[in-house]
Amino acid sequence: MKITVIGAGNVGATCANVIAHKALANQIVLVDVKEGLAEGKALDMWQTASVNIFDTRITGVTNNYEATSDSGIIVITSGVPRKPGMSRDDLISINAKIVKDVTEKAIRYSPEAIIIVVSNPLDVMTYAAYLASKKHHSKVFGMAGILDAARYKSFIAEELNTSPRDVQALLLGGHGDTMVPLPRYTSVSGIPVSQLLAQEKIDQIVQKTRQGGGDLVKLIGTSAWYAPGAAVALMVEAIVHDQHRIFSICAHVNGEYGIRDIYLGVPVKLGRSGVEEVIEIELDEDEKQLLNDSACSVRRLKKALDDMKLF
Ligand code: LAC
Repeated sequence: MKITVIGAGNVGATCANVIAHKALANQIVLVDVKEGLAEGKALDMWQTASVNIFDTRITGVTNNYEATSDSGIIVITSGVPRKPGMSRDDLISINAKIVKDVTEKAIRYSPEAIIIVVSNPLDVMTYAAYLASKKHHSKVFGMAGILDAARYKSFIAEELNTSPRDVQALLLGGHGDTMVPLPRYTSVSGIPVSQLLAQEKIDQIVQKTRQGGGDLVKLIGTSAWYAPGAAVALMVEAIVHDQHRIFSICAHVNGEYGIRDIYLGVPVKLGRSGVEEVIEIELDEDEKQLLNDSACSVRRLKKALDDMKLF
């Protein structure tokens, strides 16, 4: 499969690199607006092929969407990242126009492609890509749940001095401070986390997860890329190998969980055709309330997108 990654910044480049290492594509095209950036990073990665042993041909282009023709998957990472003190939501006015523009250009050359959005504010940028692409919502979705769950799992593993691989967890809601980690759906090799950690510790980890992206922005001065890039590659893998994997992604919700017509983090089954189904899990009253609060904050941001009158 040919895969296009739009945006050759830290997240886009890392994502392309992991996709190549996992042999998920025979061709990757990296696209950027900045002259030479995608070409240079693609060349650097391609020159690791004989060392890291992969065959994927990685090329880079500046604004040349014809070179992306017939891609099976388009990953959109374009836009400005956060700086310290900014929330993901502060980026909407700049990034909505960029996401609309690159989606329209890319889909012209790859009308059959599945689109994975990474740009922030994620839930609303995914909605913008959905509108711009005019595709069915099962083919357009965003990456956040895997990343947020990966952060959550890393904190649990650290606390228990165990492998993150053994931690199973689920998160719902928007990719922001209102995200909803679900301790009731968290286990370590099948052992409920509530049997392994005190409630107070679990609450601290939940809070640390919510601010996980922001803490990295404070440390690095811009947003993270290793975990986001790897999380996108996991979604690409589920699609390319038609794995029917279940994990939370930013998907279109229309009636599920009593929420209408927004993109939001929910568990789905993901395979070659895209989102095969949105999975509704049982929630207690507190969890429902947290999910509704998160949906409300995403809806407020969607109104800001609507008010921009781009579509
Ligand atoms: C983060 C960005 C990718 O959470 O939203 O690190």
